[in-house]
Amino acid sequence: MPNPKQTDYELFAQKNGIKLSDVTPLSLEDRLMRLETELSRTDVPYPIAPQKRDPYLTAAKTGLPFRTGNLGTESVALGDYECRQHYENYTFEEHLSWACLVAQQKKTKEKFACQEYQNGEKLFEISGGVIPDFYLLNARIYQQTAWQLATVNEIIPAELFFTCHSKRFFPVTTFMRPLGTDYLEEPDIGHDVAGHVATFTISAVANVMKYHGEARNIIYADRDKQIEAAHEDDEVIQQIKATADELLKYAGRIYWFTVEFGLVMENGEVRDFGAGILSSPGETIYSIGGSESNRILIDPSCDQDLLRLANTDYLISEFQKTYFVLENFDLLESLTPERILKASKKAMDLPDFTWREILPGDRVIDVGTAMMSVNEKYHRLMAGQKMDECLTRTAIKNLQLYQEGLNNELLAQFRQMPNEVPQEVATWFKENPEDLNPPH
Ligand SMILES: [Fe+2]
Repeated sequence: MPNPKQTDYELFAQKNGIKLSDVTPLSLEDRLMRLETELSRTDVPYPIAPQKRDPYLTAAKTGLPFRTGNLGTESVALGDYECRQHYENYTFEEHLSWACLVAQQKKTKEKFACQEYQNGEKLFEISGGVIPDFYLLNARIYQQTAWQLATVNEIIPAELFFTCHSKRFFPVTTFMRPLGTDYLEEPDIGHDVAGHVATFTISAVANVMKYHGEARNIIYADRDKQIEAAHEDDEVIQQIKATADELLKYAGRIYWFTVEFGLVMENGEVRDFGAGILSSPGETIYSIGGSESNRILIDPSCDQDLLRLANTDYLISEFQKTYFVLENFDLLESLTPERILKASKKAMDLPDFTWREILPGDRVIDVGTAMMSVNEKYHRLMAGQKMDECLTRTAIKNLQLYQEGLNNELLAQFRQMPNEVPQEVATWFKENPEDLNPPH
């Protein structure tokens, strides 16, 4: 009788055009041989210093599972989040899941990823039949980009995530999603590695990543100074900490709409470079050709456009409802840590936009069927109608801000002054604010 699992495996392999026999990891001996050759390369932008090579190779040879990369001068402390890649422990099914996912990704990436991204993929041989061995992958990434992998066991706090970025470490998980899964809220190596690694080679994108890390460092240095000056007043300290995390949330939105879900024009066509999109074959097709989402041109070198990103809320539980499109990667070069920080500070005190809205002044490429008018969230809130969390959260934040009183000078930071909140909603909110707690 055939093994039912084996039959399933064959079906998955067939469906994705791969041979089960190709899903065979190299032996430890072969991997070590490749690693040794790779480590000694000097024809690369960032050759590995001889004193770094030996301990790295020795760790691999003695069978120590890969931890955080240690090929440069920086290191990063991950605390309880640190994890190791136990390469030998991956099952056949996990390797097959990787092979199926990257085979699907390959088809959609070839069609919809921008050229720079595709070049990066080839450089790191991401589309292979087995899960990459991080010893080898980390060495190659370092040699080409000076970035390294930092293995973590789960989603880490934003603060630590961006700390890693400031030192050119990219946190990656080590687990692989179940066979046949397309979209996953929680990142796995199908996202962290197969989605992100190629973007490190796009220097403008890698800079945005690093600069978000540096923006985090400025925010936290300032936070620590304020804490010191707070003379152990717990309430004040809690407020200082909350403000720092809030600032990071707004900075994180700029990261989200570029590094994770960014699109770029290439030869007159819209193409993907965001890792969140390209790791999901379904969302890759949807992001370019889907009728549901808005696509809007954005120029991050313009302060008002940067606020458009920082003030747009989103959800992670489904495909995005708005994508922002760069005219070219050069526009990202303007995203210094200082500008990220400045936009985040302003965004905190300005009304938010939902992920479905199109605003006056937006340079619209496509209006999606999920689009909603700016005022709809307020009316739905007042009528107690069902809406997604992004709309609820945004409506409540804005109503609270308007109730506290927003000055026109601040609102003028936007390209165009936002619509007034409808009078009947403002009155209703004033009378019923206690029932409303924004969902997190
Ligand atoms: Fe990501």
